[in-house]
Amino acid sequence: MAAVLDVRDLIVSFPIEGRPVPVVNGVDFHVEEGEPVALVGESGCGKTMTGLALLRLVPPPGAITGGSIRFRGQEVLGMSEPDLCSHRGKSVAMIFQEPQSALNPVLTVGFQVAEAIRAHEKVSRRQALDRAAELFGRVALSDPQRRLADYPHQLSGGQRQRVMIAMALASGPSLLVADEPTTALDVTVQSQILDLLASLSESLGMALLLITHDLGVVAHFSRRIYVMYCGRIVESGPVAAVFRSPGHPYTRALLQSVPRLHDGDSRLRTIPGAVPPPQSLPAGCAFAPRCPLAEERCRQAVPELRPMANGRAVRCVLVGGGEP
Ligand SMILES: Nc1ncnc2c1ncn2[C@@H]1O[C@H](COP(=O)(O)OP(=O)(O)OP(=O)(O)O)[C@@H](O)[C@H]1O
Ligand SMILES: [Mg+2]
Repeated sequence: MAAVLDVRDLIVSFPIEGRPVPVVNGVDFHVEEGEPVALVGESGCGKTMTGLALLRLVPPPGAITGGSIRFRGQEVLGMSEPDLCSHRGKSVAMIFQEPQSALNPVLTVGFQVAEAIRAHEKVSRRQALDRAAELFGRVALSDPQRRLADYPHQLSGGQRQRVMIAMALASGPSLLVADEPTTALDVTVQSQILDLLASLSESLGMALLLITHDLGVVAHFSRRIYVMYCGRIVESGPVAAVFRSPGHPYTRALLQSVPRLHDGDSRLRTIPGAVPPPQSLPAGCAFAPRCPLAEERCRQAVPELRPMANGRAVRCVLVGGGEP
């Protein structure tokens, strides 16, 4: 299958203490047409900046300082402003954790989605509202016609996120980037929204990049996973294989920190030690200071992300070839 998105050696930097510091540091990944993929890692590892870079929306003073982002073969980093405008929305759309802040509180949600439709298509207000109602049905909002007239505060958190998904779908994107789309919602609503995203991806043939710190939501959602730590991909591969036998000690630690649903202990088990800040990463593997298996050679140079069997890759010198 062809890649809809191909990211190579992406670097995003922020000026910290007077010098540019990479917070996304040579990231490679791809997403195939229609494929649901997950990007996972702890807070601060660079997930959101990676997502924003795909739309060239890294907030200043941050900037993309290296690499390549190809969307259906076209270099996003070389796009003119008009090309970028159609790229944002028509090619790639993004939704975020806080649907509240992205909606205008004084306008009805129907109006807002209709305007999003009119930004990409020459249709009348009436036609745009009809399309909005259709989209509300598609995202399983109950009584779509009535919802059009609601203001954001009249909806629940889950309903607002459905409105945001409808708005993202308005321009028919080939790739939807969902950045922690369910973090602000309660657990049952979380799984409804994830199921909705998965079924939309399948029915519309739309690729999906789910960004999350929560490995628990990845399993039933995506086929492939990328695990990120301190600005780098440390492991990638098919979800089932990575879950069954994690290759990188960081992935293993993350999996062990997932709370088990039925053991009555909902506290999040965290990984001991702290994530080093981007301006003071250790010389070798960034995980070495927290890694129970670290040896001297781990502290000498940053390991390569090495391909393994079965479409997997692991950035760890302790993992040999073949299946981890
Ligand atoms: N305006 C800024 N100035 C300096 N550093 C920044 C700025 N914005 C973000 N960063 C740094 O960039 C790094 C990556 O941030 P990013 O938001 O991509 O992380 P994340 O993986 O999305 O985390 P979270 O799970 O908390 O959303 C962080 O270490 C953060 O400190
Ligand atoms: Mg984030």
